[in-house]
Amino acid sequence: MPDSRPIGVFDSGVGGLTVLLTLQETLPAESTVYLGDLARCPYGPRPQSQVREFAVEVADYLAAEDIKLLVVACNTATAAAYPIMRDRFPFPVVGVVDPGAAEAVRLSRNGRIGVIATDGTVASGAYTHAILRCRADAMVIERPASWLVPVIESGNADEAEILESLEPIMADMRAAEMDTLILGCTHFPLLRHLFDVAAGPGITILDSATTTAREVGRLLEERALQSGRAASHRFLVTGPAASFAERAAGMFGTYPPIETVDLAPGMVDAREAG
Ligand code: DGL
Repeated sequence: MPDSRPIGVFDSGVGGLTVLLTLQETLPAESTVYLGDLARCPYGPRPQSQVREFAVEVADYLAAEDIKLLVVACNTATAAAYPIMRDRFPFPVVGVVDPGAAEAVRLSRNGRIGVIATDGTVASGAYTHAILRCRADAMVIERPASWLVPVIESGNADEAEILESLEPIMADMRAAEMDTLILGCTHFPLLRHLFDVAAGPGITILDSATTTAREVGRLLEERALQSGRAASHRFLVTGPAASFAERAAGMFGTYPPIETVDLAPGMVDAREAG
């Protein structure tokens, strides 16, 4: 029997919209409910224990919305909390690290793979572990760039300044003869054109959106969870959403209604302070 319950998707902010868009394009019959934890964005510089706490709160909120599958569209939360979330819920949970790592190994010719991600994701070593599980002789160069997340959230990127800041990271990666670069933060594909310039020719750049959407499709089929109805989509946020709304309109072609929700005591204070 078709299952018309929505797929839950979350991130700290606008980054997960890159995964959501691909998900909607790949699986047009599936409804979604997206939650952007704007009141507590960014997650990247926070201690892993705090990211874990936030991720569980967000996931519990979405679970109460009767979702049939959860996509953790945030590398930082996947790195900090994926096993906890996988074991906590009766529905399947898909993170973004493993699908991106497996695809990078498939695409790389020389096994030298670069990862640019948040401080939290890099500190966790999640990509290095996931890549080495797929190819034991791979060489992984991970570099943090948490500073990019607030710039992307604000929607006001100084492109020349960003390129200048990316240059030393890319120089290290070129020196290591990396042939594949993973954008290991779901915010970064929103500046894909700058990464193309910064990385230069001959380097394959990828993110996890396509492979994650493929994994979701596979799981829905395997567990007979596919929808038989027309899709509908909801957007939830925990904090001020003006620039989130602009971004969503640019990506989805329309200003979606955005609902503001409280996940935890203190959320209203966080909103007022932000
Ligand atoms: N987009 C998220 C990620 O993939 C989170 C970025 C942040 O909040 O710092 O890691």
